[in-house]
Amino acid sequence: MRGIRITGWGIAVPDKVVTNDDLSLTLDTSDEWIVERTGIRERHIGGTTSGLAIEAAQEALRSAGRTAAEIDNLVLATTTPDGIVPGTAPSVQHGIGMHGGAFDLNAACSGFVYGLVTAAGLVAVGSGPLLLIGSETLSRITDMDDRKIAVIVADGAGAVVIEPVEGPGSLLSWNLNADGSLKHLLKCEHGGTLFMDGKEVFRRAVRVVVDSAERAMADAGLGPDDIDLMVPHQANLRIIQAACQRLSIPEERASIVIDRYGNTSSASIPLALHDAITSGRVHDGDNLLLTGFGGGMTWASAVLRWNG
Ligand code: ACO
Repeated sequence: MRGIRITGWGIAVPDKVVTNDDLSLTLDTSDEWIVERTGIRERHIGGTTSGLAIEAAQEALRSAGRTAAEIDNLVLATTTPDGIVPGTAPSVQHGIGMHGGAFDLNAACSGFVYGLVTAAGLVAVGSGPLLLIGSETLSRITDMDDRKIAVIVADGAGAVVIEPVEGPGSLLSWNLNADGSLKHLLKCEHGGTLFMDGKEVFRRAVRVVVDSAERAMADAGLGPDDIDLMVPHQANLRIIQAACQRLSIPEERASIVIDRYGNTSSASIPLALHDAITSGRVHDGDNLLLTGFGGGMTWASAVLRWNG
């Protein structure tokens, strides 16, 4: 049996910081409304999905002590590829100078957890070290005059190096879910901009995150008290708070970066994971619960024993 272990991590965000007050200059909104309803104070806007992914991947490689030549495969979770064809992952592969497989995975904001499970599957059938990246430029597909969505979206990337280990490894349990009958709730047609039924997404998000997280914990043989750190998708602080409350996981045990980074879709979980690791909140043997939801709808959870 071959399992996985996360050995390196990196992030990249565009230089340009946009505060709530900046948005209030052109939108009928306010810092007070945005903070109270979403928890977001500022976000980074700009760059390209491949450019941010390359930067995050290079930092992750450095932190793992690996070179690009040692990586066998690259999985890029994104819902905002540079173009329709080709996929963005080959550009990232070329940009960092690696060889081997490279493909995009679009599961919207659940993409990083989907990618983690995909990476574990590749390792199980013989892959060597992998790069898993979540990278997004949501601002590119957003009507910045639509206050309902412009205030939550943001750009950024997070990457991890994943290595094979003998034995079960870090991934204790996982579940992936989708319901395509809900695709109308959050969508972007070719050449269009994002549409979101925010209220309905909010309502369903809490329900599916709780259900999926509970199943992942049960499959790992763990209860809420055993979770040392929850790393949720950062869509709205109120969703994270509601999920924590229903799961009986104190909010203090969640990694929250939405105030600084906004909603970066598939980049938000690796951004929150990176913040927790680099601020010393993650220790060997800790149980981490990763959970996300997004367009599709898709939702997914995984429990990791760091660094099992
Ligand atoms: N500033 C000021 N007022 C606003 C704004 C704004 N930016 N946006 C909406 N309002 C107003 C509305 O017009 C409405 O006014 P009304 O009562 O006079 O009609 C009022 O505020 C309440 O609007 P709601 O839409 O009910 O606001 P809500 O509290 O639901 O917050 C939000 C909206 C933040 C979008 C929330 O619904 C949400 O976070 N939903 C989930 C988002 C999500 O998780 N998406 C999934 C991933 S995102 C992705 O993939 C890109």
